[in-house]
Amino acid sequence: MTSPLFRTKKVEQSIRDTEEPEHALKKSLSALDLTVFGVGVIIGTGIFVLTGTVAKDNAGPATALAFVVAGVVCALAALCYAEFASTVPVAGSAYTFSYASLGELPAWIIGWDLVLEFALGTAVVAVGWSGYIQSLLSNAGWEMPAALGSREGADVFGFDVLAAALVLALTGILVLGMKLSARVTSVVVAIKVIVVLVVIVAGAFFITADNYDPFIPESKPVPAGESLNAPLIQLMFGWAPANFGVMGVFTAASVVFFAFIGFDIVATAAEETRNPQRDMPRGILGSLFICTVLYVLVSLVVTGMQHYSELSVDAPLADAFKATGHPWFAGFISFGAAVGLTTVCMILLLGQTRVFFAMSRDGLLPRFFSRVHPRFRTPHRPTILLGVLIAVLAGFTPLNELAALVNIGTLFAFVIVAISVVILRRSRPDLPRSFRTPWVPVLPIVSVAASLWLMLNLPAETWVRFGVWMAIGIVVYFLYSRTHSRLARGEGAEPGTPLGPPGGPGPR
Ligand code: ALA
Repeated sequence: MTSPLFRTKKVEQSIRDTEEPEHALKKSLSALDLTVFGVGVIIGTGIFVLTGTVAKDNAGPATALAFVVAGVVCALAALCYAEFASTVPVAGSAYTFSYASLGELPAWIIGWDLVLEFALGTAVVAVGWSGYIQSLLSNAGWEMPAALGSREGADVFGFDVLAAALVLALTGILVLGMKLSARVTSVVVAIKVIVVLVVIVAGAFFITADNYDPFIPESKPVPAGESLNAPLIQLMFGWAPANFGVMGVFTAASVVFFAFIGFDIVATAAEETRNPQRDMPRGILGSLFICTVLYVLVSLVVTGMQHYSELSVDAPLADAFKATGHPWFAGFISFGAAVGLTTVCMILLLGQTRVFFAMSRDGLLPRFFSRVHPRFRTPHRPTILLGVLIAVLAGFTPLNELAALVNIGTLFAFVIVAISVVILRRSRPDLPRSFRTPWVPVLPIVSVAASLWLMLNLPAETWVRFGVWMAIGIVVYFLYSRTHSRLARGEGAEPGTPLGPPGGPGPR
C-alpha cells in the first residue's frame, strides 16, 4: 500500500517517541498494578446497573448466559490486545497498534472511535455514580432538587451537578500524577470487590429456585413504533422485533458488554508499565478472567433472589436485598457501588486522555496537547480539556442509549485490533513478541466475527449515531490531521527530532 493514507509508523519509532524527555510518561506500574487497574475499571455500571435492566427487558435469568457470551467475545479480543500491547508498549492502545500495522487513516479512525468510547463511557459512569449517591442521600433523608439531580426529574432544565463535580475532581487527581491515582485505585477496588463478594455469598442464601423457571423466558414481540430501537440484525433480516428467547440473550450480551469495557484500557497504560512485555498480558487477561467469574455469579444470585420481572433498574443489586427484607445489606451495597464507580470513571478518563495524548504526539491533533507537565509528568492539557468537556456532557446527557454507543465503538476497535494482529505478523514477523496470540489467523478471525455479531445485535439507531460520529472524524482527518501528521511532514524519522506545533514551539 503506497497511498499516504496508509503510511505506517514504525514500531521502533513509536517506542523511541516515548523516550523523548518532554513527551515521556513515568514508568511505574507492575503486573499487579495493572490487574488492579483493570478490575478497577471493569467492574462498574455494567454489573451494578445494567444487570437489572437487561434481566427485566431482554433475558431474565439467562442474563448469566449473556455475561458468558460477552465474556467470550472479550477474551478473544483480549488475546489479540495482549499480543499488541506486549509488542508495541506505548500509550494509545488500539490507536497505536493500528498506526504500526494498518496505516494512518485506519489509525485515525480508531483513535477517533476510542475518544468516543472513553468520553461517553466516563459520562455514563459518572451519571450512574450520581444516581447511587442520590439514593444514599435520600436514605439519610436528604433529597437533591430535581433540576440539580437528574435530568429526568427536572421539568425544564436539568443539570446533574454531582456527575459533573465527580468528573472535575477526578480530572484534578489525574493531573497530579499516575502513582497517586493507582494508589487511590487499589483501596477503592478492594471495597468494590468486597461488595461484589458480599452480594454473591450473602445473596446465595436468599435464592428461590422458582425464580429460575423458565431460565430463558419465551420470546415476546416488541410493541410497534419502537423499531429503530430494535437490534439491527432483526431489521436486516426482516425478523419481527422481539425480546427474550435465545435472541434476547444476544441482545442482552450486546448491552452487558459494557460491563467488560476496561480491559482494553489496561493496554493504554503500556507506556507507564515497568516491564510491559511480561506484565501487559498478565494484567489484561487476569483482570478479565476475575471479572467474568464475578459477573456470572452475581447475575445468577440476583435473578435467583427476585423474579426478573420485578428487578429494579436503578440499583438492582441493592434492591434485591431490600426485596428479600435485608435493607442493611442494601445500604452497604449502595455505598460500595458509589465508591467503586469512582475508580471506573477515573480510569476511563485516564484512558481517554492517553489516546488523545498519543494522537497529538503524532501530530494528528494539535501538538500543544502532547507536552507533559514538567513536574507531574502527566499530559495535563488533554486531561483538563477533556475533563471539562466530559463534565458538561455528564451533566446534560441521559444515561440510556449512551452505553450502546460506547459498546459499538469498543467492538469496532476490537475488530480493528484483531485484523491488525494478522497484518503485523505478516509485515513485521521480526518484532519480538513476548506474548503471542494463539492460532493466528483463526483466533483473530473468530474474534472479528464475534465482535461483529454483538455489534449487529445493537439497536439500529445506535448504528446511525456511530456513523455520524465517524463521518465527522473523517472530515477532521482530511481538513487537519492529514497535513499536520508528523509522518506527512517527514518528522520523527530520527530520535531527538525537534518537536513542536507548526509555526514554532508550543507554550509550556
Ligand atoms: N466496565 C465498566 C462498567 O461496567 C465501564 O461501568
